[in-house]
Amino acid sequence: MDKLQIQGGIPLEGDVRISGAKNATLPILAAALLADDPVVIANVPHLQDVTTTIELLGRMGVSVTIDEHMHIEVDASSLRECFAPYDLVKTMRASILVLGPLVAKFGRADVSLPGGCAIGARPVNIHVAGLQAMGADIQIEGGYIRARASRLKGARLVLDTVTVTGTENLMMAATLAEGETVIENAAREPEVVDLAHCLIEMGAKIHGAGTDKITVQGVPRLHGTRYEVLPDRIESGTYLVAGAITRGNVRIKNTRPENLDAVLAKLQEAGAKVGVGDSWVEVDMRGRRPRAVDVRTAPYPAFPTDMQAQFAALNTVAEGVGTIIETIFENRFMHMLEMRRLGAEIRLEGNTAIIHGVERLTAAPVMATDLRASASLVLAGLVAAGRTDVERIYHIDRGYETIEEKLAQLGAQIKRVPN
Ligand code: EPU
Repeated sequence: MDKLQIQGGIPLEGDVRISGAKNATLPILAAALLADDPVVIANVPHLQDVTTTIELLGRMGVSVTIDEHMHIEVDASSLRECFAPYDLVKTMRASILVLGPLVAKFGRADVSLPGGCAIGARPVNIHVAGLQAMGADIQIEGGYIRARASRLKGARLVLDTVTVTGTENLMMAATLAEGETVIENAAREPEVVDLAHCLIEMGAKIHGAGTDKITVQGVPRLHGTRYEVLPDRIESGTYLVAGAITRGNVRIKNTRPENLDAVLAKLQEAGAKVGVGDSWVEVDMRGRRPRAVDVRTAPYPAFPTDMQAQFAALNTVAEGVGTIIETIFENRFMHMLEMRRLGAEIRLEGNTAIIHGVERLTAAPVMATDLRASASLVLAGLVAAGRTDVERIYHIDRGYETIEEKLAQLGAQIKRVPN
């Protein structure tokens, strides 16, 4: 198992290119199951979660080919079985995204229930209830969701909670249902919109993606297309915080600034000079120490839970006291305990973390517990005095493409070493 070794204390300077969004790529790969002919996906990030999804599709008999530019062609016409096994689903919960497409296109799906997760309970009851409302017969048996349907029927779905993959699963299922589906209280995340754009290019009739009411008119079939995935807004935000926490000057390229409003507002509050172009954003701290900021996570367009840990890292070395409130997941504070090992002053009260910024962190070995937690530990390592080893970085490889290379390009002293 590899670890990252980071020598802290260097202000980051320079440009970094943002990869395609993980959380758009995964549903778009699943959406390819709905098409009668191949779907080609471009700007796919090279990540473990993408590899796992390709393996999942491969096990179903779907043909997946990748060219040297990481363009992925998915041809579901060779599908043999509608099965997502536990050994894959337990490593990546997003596997649940094949449920809606399989039932809608092939009339059956046996998808393992994801089970527990490091950041919260993360049930999938809303995915299941939505498909049932569309006429699917669903039994939970032997740890599997066993869904059967002839043709799904459009329905009015009012989601209990705003759920990103739930909205995506139901929107995908609705594309091939008979009649109209209305999804109320839908997630508005840019990745939902990107998936909708891809589905529309495949022939789906979808209105309202990006609002809390999505309307889908079912069509009998979808065709292939070529689609380029949007840039990753969480990777974008993470590199901007890397610039801010190290008091440096970082420009991210190939991004979509309009998807970063809540994050950019917080960086400005922290004292960063933020410059924005068509497809780039620059954060310049001019050598100054960041100011602590208060953050409350909520569904898009509010502040993303996937950026909470990175801003916690920023607060650990900021001037003043910053409060982080996590409202999406019940157990997403594991990084706080690890940051304390670096000398951070953090008090936890339920879903609230109160962080007193300290003058300096000091290096120590720390352990990554989930994807964004590991990113925050790398950020803390970038400013801790001495050498920080971040262990269990397989978490980080799920969502950050070549993080050590991109950070090294900005001047960080970081290397991947076998444990
Ligand atoms: N929820 C339910 N029932 C459901 C579905 C969700 O109660 O059937 C609850 C969850 O327990 C949670 C809340 O709804 O409290 C929101 O969860 P959501 O379903 O939106 O999360 P998700 O779709 O499983 C996606 C991202 C996550 C990101 C969240 C929130 C993907 C593949 N994953 O997860 O990304 O944190 O939305 O924005 O899109 C990450 O990239 O590190 C990551 C965890």
